[in-house]
Amino acid sequence: MPTILAIESSCDDTSAAVCVDGKILSNLIANQQVHEKFGGVVPELASRAHQANIVPVVTAALATAGIDKEAIDAVAFTQGPGLVGSLLVGMSFAKGFALARQLPLIAVNHMQAHVAANYIDHPDLSFPLICLTVSGGHTQLVYVRNYLDMEIIGSTIDDAAGEAFDKAAKMLGLDYPGGPLIDQWAQKGNPQKFSFSKPNIPELNFSFSGLKTSFLYFIQKEKQKNPYFIEENMADLCASIQAAILDALLYKLEKAVKQYSVSSIAIAGGVSANSGLRHRIQDFANHRKLRVHIPKFEYCTDNAGMIAIVGHYKFLRGEFSDQSVMPFARFNF
Ligand code: KG4
Ligand code: ZN
Repeated sequence: MPTILAIESSCDDTSAAVCVDGKILSNLIANQQVHEKFGGVVPELASRAHQANIVPVVTAALATAGIDKEAIDAVAFTQGPGLVGSLLVGMSFAKGFALARQLPLIAVNHMQAHVAANYIDHPDLSFPLICLTVSGGHTQLVYVRNYLDMEIIGSTIDDAAGEAFDKAAKMLGLDYPGGPLIDQWAQKGNPQKFSFSKPNIPELNFSFSGLKTSFLYFIQKEKQKNPYFIEENMADLCASIQAAILDALLYKLEKAVKQYSVSSIAIAGGVSANSGLRHRIQDFANHRKLRVHIPKFEYCTDNAGMIAIVGHYKFLRGEFSDQSVMPFARFNF
């Protein structure tokens, strides 16, 4: 039964996890505060912070799990998609560790790992299922036949859902990343107070750029009438833009569930930490008598636990990479 050390470094968080026989014993994350004042992730600063964080985070993950490095059977790492400089730091560490200890390497697709976050603590999973993966860089509907066998059946043609949250937050003067802040404000607001243009995109694809523009024009118009419009309406604005984003997501999820006749659904990615989405997906499933899987909070946003769980299933299938493996920036399954 494999003991896997996993590393995630695709964006601005350095994370390490230890997984024994499919159970996550530790999942530690070092956040990078350095980007806050820039309103977005600065790739070069992210790579440098990963370099500073990686050894302490791995050491702490092993200590928390109570696992000696002699006990590790394989090293899993995020191969992509992500920032290449950041990926290189995690991958190089993984390669070095594996080489020094003569261990197999397991390259993991970050988007597949987001879906797999649902396998952690949910051994009762039933396939096939449709997973709505909503992160800062991607928005996808994924048809999951089995643990590692998945197919993208819909994706965004422009902005990702997390990006829509972050850009709307920026327009409201909130800090980066704004998704969690919109979530907090929205809990005190009226989601029906303001309405914005609805995307009209064929098939199972998404678009959020029209919604973003409609939100921007609306705010600009209202601010001309009342310079304090945002401050006076923050909770309702957040609740309304959140509702518009979630409506667009659930509309396409509904279409996918019908088209593929599945009886199980799941959510994944940073936006699946959104409390509004978590409530609405539960209601959505209850009304349609679907089984629903929602990852624990710590496995929604980027974390090495989800990399470890893919590592576990790839280990069982004997899917290893050699030392010539390279990272990739853009999505490919
Ligand atoms: O999956 P993730 O951690 O990183 C990527 O792979 O992109 O997702 C980050 C995204 C950001 O856009 C962030 O604002 C959003 O997830 N996010 C949220 C919440 N928590 C994180 N969006 C809405 N509500 C939240 N509670
Ligand atoms: Zn992610």
